[in-house]
Amino acid sequence: MVETDVEVKTVTKAEAIMALERECVLGNYARYPLVLERGKGCYLYDTDGRRYLDLLSGIGVNALGHAHPRVMRAIREQSAKLMHCSNLYYHEYQGKLAKQLAAASGLDRSFFCNSGAEAMECAVKIMRSHGNGAGEGKHEIVSLNNSFHGRTMGALALTGQPKYQKDFAPMMEGVRFVDANNIDQLEAVMNEKTAGIVIEGIQGEGGIHPMTAAFLRKARALADQHNAILVFDAIQCGVGRTGHFFSHQAIAPDVKPDVMVTAKPLSCGLPLGAVMMNERAAAAIRPGMHGTTFGGGALATRVAHEFMEMLPGLLPHIDRVGEYFRQELRELQRKNSFITEVRGLGLMIGVQLTIPGKDLVSEGLKQGLLFNCTHDTVLRFLPPYIITEKEIDKAVTGLKKVFKTVK
Ligand SMILES: Cc1ncc(COP(=O)(O)O)c(C=O)c1O
Repeated sequence: MVETDVEVKTVTKAEAIMALERECVLGNYARYPLVLERGKGCYLYDTDGRRYLDLLSGIGVNALGHAHPRVMRAIREQSAKLMHCSNLYYHEYQGKLAKQLAAASGLDRSFFCNSGAEAMECAVKIMRSHGNGAGEGKHEIVSLNNSFHGRTMGALALTGQPKYQKDFAPMMEGVRFVDANNIDQLEAVMNEKTAGIVIEGIQGEGGIHPMTAAFLRKARALADQHNAILVFDAIQCGVGRTGHFFSHQAIAPDVKPDVMVTAKPLSCGLPLGAVMMNERAAAAIRPGMHGTTFGGGALATRVAHEFMEMLPGLLPHIDRVGEYFRQELRELQRKNSFITEVRGLGLMIGVQLTIPGKDLVSEGLKQGLLFNCTHDTVLRFLPPYIITEKEIDKAVTGLKKVFKTVK
């Protein structure tokens, strides 16, 4: 064998995966250098077998954690029977899931799609069609500053954060923004031209900011006064995340929207969005006015149907462990002056910092914890609904170490 000076550098599996993406995948994501391979319960494992406690659940998606036996069984059974058949025909699960959503929301009908943004687009069409049917020039939509409703052009136009809109001008016209929880501004902006109002019960991407009961009640009253459609965006804060089916049921249980959109946790990791609506809103969409190829497929709706069967039993757990997590985080707040507030409901939690949170997220990775930072200075925790107090204790032990790195 001939000896050479050439150093042979071995490329790890993770490095190879990241290099391939850098070469061929659109560079729209600033990913962390972590390649995940599998998950079990509330834990994820990278390509080197290192374990991470998942406190983010794919940004509010993996409600039952990873590899949940009931989800796996439903996928196995349904994929062997029927995954997709188009919306030209019926299958068993859209109706069943729609009935469960109606019971949980008090809204009569559902439309199924594949994502949050897509659900928002349907809500935009409902508001516009309702407004156009009610009178000339009635097409304005009121949305909130600091909100987030998705990346498609309609949803983006409603997103009250210029940083997401600036490269894609011009936006869909007719959107008016007011501050969250500002009743005077809401009252001033609404009139006979208003077709709809869109509100997240708890602003998620905007930094975990809950609406007040008074604001939701006023929005309902003004929507009624001006014949507008009241839309709640429950994409991040809905379907059990707050320990209630929907966050407004905790904040102002007497308020009912006309339309509610949701997605993220609905099918436990499979793409599925839903638009729930009352008969008044449903009247705005007639046959042929809206549709989707994939939306409401048999596989995704079957899993969501089974998840919705389990959810009532999980809500008290979400409420209890969420409260426990917030208490523990408030303990950490007392010891760390750069933490100014711990906000949220159920397992939707934000920790407000006086400093940028990005480096703390990277420190979290070193401690085997997955969470993220939103709005620059808010650490966001959206763990799986099945997380236990013991796992939260582990998270808190790791977070103590993370917070110690702050100079
Ligand atoms: C409140 C809210 N609305 C809409 C969306 C968009 O959902 P998707 O990313 O599934 O399109 C998100 C996503 O983060 C969200 O949090």
